[in-house]
Amino acid sequence: AEDPLLTSFEDTIRRNDRIEPRDWMPDAYRRTLVRQVAQHAHSEIIGMQPEGHWIGRAPSLRRKAILLAKVQDEAGHGLYLYSACETLGVARADLMRKLIDGRQKYSSIFNYPALTYADVGTIGWLVDGAAICNQVPLCRTSYGPYGRAMIRICKEESFHQRQGYELLATMMRGTDEQRAMVQESVDRFWWPSLMMFGPPDAESPNTAQSMAWNIKRNTNDDLRQRFVDMTVPQAEALGVTPPDPDLRWNEERGSYDFGEPDWAEFKAVLRGDGPRNAQRLAHRRRAWEEGAWVRDAAMAFARRGPRPEED
Ligand code: ACO
Repeated sequence: AEDPLLTSFEDTIRRNDRIEPRDWMPDAYRRTLVRQVAQHAHSEIIGMQPEGHWIGRAPSLRRKAILLAKVQDEAGHGLYLYSACETLGVARADLMRKLIDGRQKYSSIFNYPALTYADVGTIGWLVDGAAICNQVPLCRTSYGPYGRAMIRICKEESFHQRQGYELLATMMRGTDEQRAMVQESVDRFWWPSLMMFGPPDAESPNTAQSMAWNIKRNTNDDLRQRFVDMTVPQAEALGVTPPDPDLRWNEERGSYDFGEPDWAEFKAVLRGDGPRNAQRLAHRRRAWEEGAWVRDAAMAFARRGPRPEED
């Protein structure tokens, strides 16, 4: 016999409509979403660390104000995404516990250090650029709260990307030393940015099912290609060279050919062996533990409820 709940879910997906929190959904759909949205939220929060390191070291008041606002936006993105995840029936404290215990992932890219101020620009240009490529299609993801969170996040991410590009363009108009700093930074971040899109399609266990459910709207390799095609002309305009000897325009495909990222390095970073994995998690754990009194106080205040005005 047909299951009417499942049929109704499948019809909604087929019509390209949204699934909402109170709708029935298969357990596996819910689990996949919790996995992806939690990982996405954790990425925003862990992603505050490499750039946050530079807030007290910014070269001018203007750069400091820009960076401060940007890192604050990332905290906001994390909060929208944790809220979206909570609509799936998981508690935020539980997600935080799983992140700290290494049971949920966050993006590989944030395990690389920001070593110079040029990295602040490169993270905006390449890392936020890759995030936009990945996230614009997710505005049409099938789960309502996730898709709606993505709309606002994408607007802010495009602003972040321009911010990074503008920083690098300013440095490229500076001294030879500054230009060398930008190139060195791009050399370090190029390949890890391509890895943000995930493993090659043939080795991506989740893509087929996630696309069938309209959770993902494109494959990892498609988005990686789209990112390269979007970014190479920007690199030319900036005057930097991506560190890929195989990068060239393919007239026939109307796209750039490019080399293979080092997937052994990607796997090592996912295993916890990237340059900054241990430090990122230790920092998050410390912040969570040191913030316990704030959460306790907020809960006590909430329990006490509103009080009549005193004179
Ligand atoms: N970093 C860490 N883990 C990754 C990465 C990455 N760059 N890419 C893939 N993985 C993990 C997947 O989570 C999965 O592991 P899991 O099953 O334990 O969760 C495994 O590698 C296999 O990958 P896929 O089968 O391709 O996984 P999936 O279909 O979830 O695709 C992707 C991965 C593309 C990252 C997808 O989850 C996605 O689009 N997420 C939303 C975007 C996002 O999280 N962005 C965060 C970085 S951008 C930013 O915050 C600024």
